[in-house]
Amino acid sequence: MLHRLVIFCALLLGSFAASSATDHYTYANYQQVTVTHLHLDLSMDFEKKTLSGFADLQLNWLDKNQTVVHLDTRDLVIDRAYAKAHDGSWQKVAFSLAERDPVLGSKLTIRPDFAAKTLRIYYSSTPEASGLQWLTPAQTAGKTTPFMFSQNQAIHARSWIPIQDTPAVRMAYSARIQSPENVLVLMSAPNNPAAARDGDYQFAMPKPIPAYLIAIAAGDLQFKAMSEQTGVYAEPYILNAAASEFTSTQAMIDATEKLYGEYRWGRYDLLILPPSFPFGGMENPVLSFITPTVVAGDASLVNLIAHELAHSWSGNLVTNATWRDLWLNEGFTSYVENRIMEQVFGTDRAVMEQALSVQGLKDELTELSPNDSILHIELQGRDPDDAFSGVPYTKGQLFLMFLEQQFGRDKFDPFVRQYFADHAFQSIDTETFINYLDKNLLQKHPGVVSLEQAKTWIYQPGLPAGTPQPQSDAFVNVQQHINNWLNGTTDLASLPAAGWTVHEWLYFINNLPLSLSTEQMVALDNRFTLTTSANSEIAHAWYLLALKTGYQPIMPQLQQYLINIGRRKLIIPLYKQLATTPEGLAFAKAVYSKARPGYHPLAQGSVDELLLK
Ligand code: BES
Ligand code: ZN
Repeated sequence: MLHRLVIFCALLLGSFAASSATDHYTYANYQQVTVTHLHLDLSMDFEKKTLSGFADLQLNWLDKNQTVVHLDTRDLVIDRAYAKAHDGSWQKVAFSLAERDPVLGSKLTIRPDFAAKTLRIYYSSTPEASGLQWLTPAQTAGKTTPFMFSQNQAIHARSWIPIQDTPAVRMAYSARIQSPENVLVLMSAPNNPAAARDGDYQFAMPKPIPAYLIAIAAGDLQFKAMSEQTGVYAEPYILNAAASEFTSTQAMIDATEKLYGEYRWGRYDLLILPPSFPFGGMENPVLSFITPTVVAGDASLVNLIAHELAHSWSGNLVTNATWRDLWLNEGFTSYVENRIMEQVFGTDRAVMEQALSVQGLKDELTELSPNDSILHIELQGRDPDDAFSGVPYTKGQLFLMFLEQQFGRDKFDPFVRQYFADHAFQSIDTETFINYLDKNLLQKHPGVVSLEQAKTWIYQPGLPAGTPQPQSDAFVNVQQHINNWLNGTTDLASLPAAGWTVHEWLYFINNLPLSLSTEQMVALDNRFTLTTSANSEIAHAWYLLALKTGYQPIMPQLQQYLINIGRRKLIIPLYKQLATTPEGLAFAKAVYSKARPGYHPLAQGSVDELLLK
């Protein structure tokens, strides 16, 4: 009887393992043992640029015959390891650190001679940590206080925590962080806006989250409430501007809850990072990390907040099990982001944002290999950071818009809401999603969309027939004005540009022909002072056009832009374009030599690749 039970359980386990894709970006033996809770006890040293102390890992053994634990690390110094014995004492255990793989880092193997429930690892990060940036006071706006922050997604958690660095594993965490007294430390866990700045901070995130969502930041941070539930942490120079820029955050939460169910994380705060933050935003739970380049003065770029907030459902609640399934995170989030924008700012703006994204995707698709235009991407051993593109975002969003259009919102919205509820705090792969979609939407309403069609969207390259084509009346208008100006029917003075939104400006600049003469570029710049635009997206679009058309007067401003900003999406296309001519490349290298020390390791990596190799 017992024997049969064992075989039955083994079969059951086997079938679970088979239905969940393997993450090839972790050394962890997470099919045998999983970390259920992490406790960090770390001191922060700005001089040495290290976090050091210990990590306690609570383990759940799925395979009762194993005792060995493999973890992910990269550039960590491992000092010693202990396992907690049954009598509660700590026993020193043997460990080994394998040779460093350029993508995966070094496998840490810990060999207790029993199935330990708790491990303690004493370690230190190094200044090379790919997931941390350390800024000197001189590199901050206030010049008085150092700043540091983490960016774990996709596989950088291992550069400051020895951990199972796979989105397939979720853990609760707690932390005690000791820091210099002049910095406030925050984590992706409930933060107390009134915490005393005393250099000793405690955190506890009770919900299970994957390693890529563990986050830390420290600096001269102050808090300003935006509503009961929301607020902003920022350096003083930008605190008030950010709080007024993002006042719509509460309305966004309310709108999302109405559409997709309760916000499950308690508070929702924003942390404004230094301009070297390599992304627009990062959805660290409870505390989204945000680039200051979206503090534009007119809330024109707040779709970024809608995006990071949307991850509280798509990504943080329902998580991609592997990085091949990133589209489940980013595609759903881009879709939800746009639904939020529609609710809070109206259809016209939402459609303009769709149209700009789709135009961006179509441009990108002309350069991507067909394989990289597949939602369920084949990463082929590349660093997940290197396979990053608009495909998981905008093609994913278009797929969901397609389903929405075919089934109608009355059927599609409840489906998405239930999808979030049914997979809350789980990590799922693409196949699990397809099965769920088939059962709960396609088969429920037969004859609307076939399983084959859905699979074409997910497993085939490019954009399938029937791809939604967002049509913005405002953009049709702008296009008309472009045409009239180009064919001489009107002059620039009669463009109704004073009333244009940032989105109309972006459309305008992105749709000017590359055959523009220097005279025409001069005329545009004289009339609209685009070279000195304070809007980071408009400036980016204009600089790109200027480089492509050979309009030189931007160069001094472009240099400042590339030195001030480290957000990859804004700087990489400019460096790429510069690198297409010998003079441009020389300019790029000269600017980069000044900019590089201020960039994040991830941005340094990308630009090094572009210019120095
Ligand atoms: N989670 C991403 C950032 C990310 C993705 C980091 C993959 C590392 C690997 C974040 O939510 C994001 O998508 N940010 C975008 C926002 C935009 C699409 C509104 C960004 O940073 O530009
Ligand atoms: Zn995202």
